[in-house]
Order: sequence, then C-alpha cells, then structure tokens
Amino acid sequence: MKNIVVFASGSGSNFQAIIDSIGKGEIEAHISGLIASRPGIGAIERAKSHNIPHYVLSGEPSDTSFTKVLISKLKAWNPDLIVLAGFLKKIPAEVTETYQNKIINIHPSLLPKYGGKGFYGIKVHKAVVDAGETESGCTVHYVNELYDKGDIIRQQRVTVSDDDTPETLAQKVLKEEHKLLPNVIAEILNNK
Ligand code: GAR
Repeated sequence: MKNIVVFASGSGSNFQAIIDSIGKGEIEAHISGLIASRPGIGAIERAKSHNIPHYVLSGEPSDTSFTKVLISKLKAWNPDLIVLAGFLKKIPAEVTETYQNKIINIHPSLLPKYGGKGFYGIKVHKAVVDAGETESGCTVHYVNELYDKGDIIRQQRVTVSDDDTPETLAQKVLKEEHKLLPNVIAEILNNK
C-alpha cells in the first residue's frame, strides 16, 4: 500500500476530499500522517476523527529545526507522495530535494497567473475579481524550491460571472479542487 502525507494550514476540506476518495476506493493508498502548520485548525480535527496521526510543525521554514523535525517526521511516515492541501508555509529546499517529484500542491488559480508569494486563499480570488478576469480555476503542480513554479500536472477552469465576489468564486473553485486533487493523486499512485 502506498503512503500519502498531507500538509495543511486551514479547514482541511481538500484533506477531507482525499480521505473520502480513499474511502470510496478511488485512491489506492493510506494517509500515514498530517503535518499542520499551526494548532487549532480544522484539518487537525479531521485527522483525529479519522485516526490519522498528526504533527504540529512550529517555527518558521528558515529555522534549521523546522527542516530537521520535518525530515525526521517524513522519514517515519515514509511517503510515496506528499500533498500540500492548503499549506501556507514554504517547503525548505532540503525537503524538496529529498522528495523530488514526490510533492504536489493545489493552488486556487490558473497558474502561472495569480501565483507566487502573497497569493494564497481568498487573496487569489480577490485579485482575480479585481482584475475583471472572465475565467479562473485551480492547478495541481509539482513543488520545487520556488513558490508555485513547479511543473503543472493538471488544471480545471471555472467561469467568473459578473456578479461573482471573491467569496463566491472561492466556493466555485474549491468545489473543483475537491475533484481535481483526488483525481491527480489516483493518477499518480494507482497502478504504479
Ligand atoms: C484551498 O483553496 C487551496 O487551494 C488554497 O488554500 C485553500 C485551503 O482550503 N491553497 C493556497 O492558496 C496555496 N497557495 P482547505 O483547507 O479547505 O483545503
């Protein structure tokens, strides 16, 4: 059985979509752990209710201890795939080098548009609406040492309507994220 380690910073609805997809037998894998970037987030509650071990990674990516602890946790959980599901901290270069082509991220825009430092969560949707874009979407891509710059695996488009607000657009995009992310994970892990 393949192992997945999920990283999250928020409510964890994408984490839940992965759990559900495994439950339905669509992804043939097991989630060996959740890395949370802070205590008290929804993703931790989801991990607890599904008996998935979790670890709260304190400190900042620039601290040596951050990388050290992260690498030791990952060694223990032995991931075939690391999934950043709404994780808002930078992944240290030592980790992206150790797990080359084994880390994927979901981003709520059509990268390379609206990606990079400062573009996360609702800020992305606000920028898209403010720019008067007629379409947006989500992207799953490999993670390297540069923010949102790794190779794109798959994207899903959505239409931005005249009456969309950042909040309604976020809901539309999130609905697509919940399908796209599990599909890409299944594609990468099943039959390998
Ligand atoms: C998702 O929309 C995800 O694409 C975004 O954070 C949200 C997390 O929601 N990620 C980024 O902005 C990364 N740059 P969730 O906690 O409900 O899965």
